[in-house]
Amino acid sequence: MRGSRITGTGGRLPDKVVTNHDLATRMDTDDEWIRSRTGIEERRIGGTTTEHAVEASRLALERAGVDAADLDLVILATTTPDRAVPGTSPGVALALGARCGAIDINAACSGWVYGLVMAHAMIGSGMERILVAGAETLSRITDWEDRTTAILVADGGGAAVVEATDGPGDLLGWDLAADGDTEKYLFAEMGGYLEMNGKEVFRHAVSLMADSSERALAQAGLSADDVDVVIPHQANIRIIEACCKRLGVPPEKAVITLHFMGNTSAATVPFTLDHAVAEGRLSDGDVILFSGFGAGMTAASAVMRWSGPTTG
Ligand code: COA
Repeated sequence: MRGSRITGTGGRLPDKVVTNHDLATRMDTDDEWIRSRTGIEERRIGGTTTEHAVEASRLALERAGVDAADLDLVILATTTPDRAVPGTSPGVALALGARCGAIDINAACSGWVYGLVMAHAMIGSGMERILVAGAETLSRITDWEDRTTAILVADGGGAAVVEATDGPGDLLGWDLAADGDTEKYLFAEMGGYLEMNGKEVFRHAVSLMADSSERALAQAGLSADDVDVVIPHQANIRIIEACCKRLGVPPEKAVITLHFMGNTSAATVPFTLDHAVAEGRLSDGDVILFSGFGAGMTAASAVMRWSGPTTG
């Protein structure tokens, strides 16, 4: 049997910090409203999707001790590619020195977890080493006059190296979901800005993420009581808390980064994983629940028994 495990992680945020107070100078909002409704205090804006993906991936490769030339595949989850054609991943692979296939995937904020599950499947088919990155420049598709979306979104990247291992590996269960009926609640037309019905997204997000997590746990043969750490998509602290409550997982088990980075879509889960490693939140043998949801609406969850890095 041939399994997979994460052997290195990396994260990258742009330098420019935009606080809630900064936003309040350009639109009708205030720090108190944004903090209490979302948990976000500041976010980072700038750069390109390629830059964020490359920088986060370099760190992940270095920490895994993997040479980019030895990668078998580069998967880049993004909703904000740098151009319409070609995909962003071939340029990322080139910048890293990889000589393998490269593909963009767009499952919105669930994208990186989709990529993680796909990497596991490709490793089961014979590949040895796969880079799974998530990177975004949501600031480019945001109307900075629109207080309903501009307070939420941000830019950045995260990445992990997934490698083959003897035995079953670390991925114990997973779930991928999509409900096209709810795509009308969160979308951007070609060349347009993000449009969102916040209340509907909130309502569907909690059930999508909790249901997906439950299916992944069931496939792993585990229950919520077995979960040691949750690495959730970082959209809104209230969504994360409501999801933990529905699952029956204490909210303090969830790693939170949204207060300083906002919602960076496909980048939040790998960035938060890297942050958890750097903060010493993960121990060998921990059961980790990764769960994301986003436009589509999509959801994706993965349950891992961690044998990856425990210090940054
Ligand atoms: N600052 C101040 N007031 C604002 C505001 C802002 N940025 N945005 C909206 N408001 C106002 C509204 O106009 C409304 O005023 P009214 O009562 O006078 O009509 C009031 O605040 C409440 O708005 P509402 O939309 O009901 O707030 P909410 O509690 O649903 O919170 C969100 C709004 C966007 C924070 C919340 O719905 C949410 O987080 N949804 C999920 C979004 C998400 O996660 N998207 C990404 C998914 S990957």
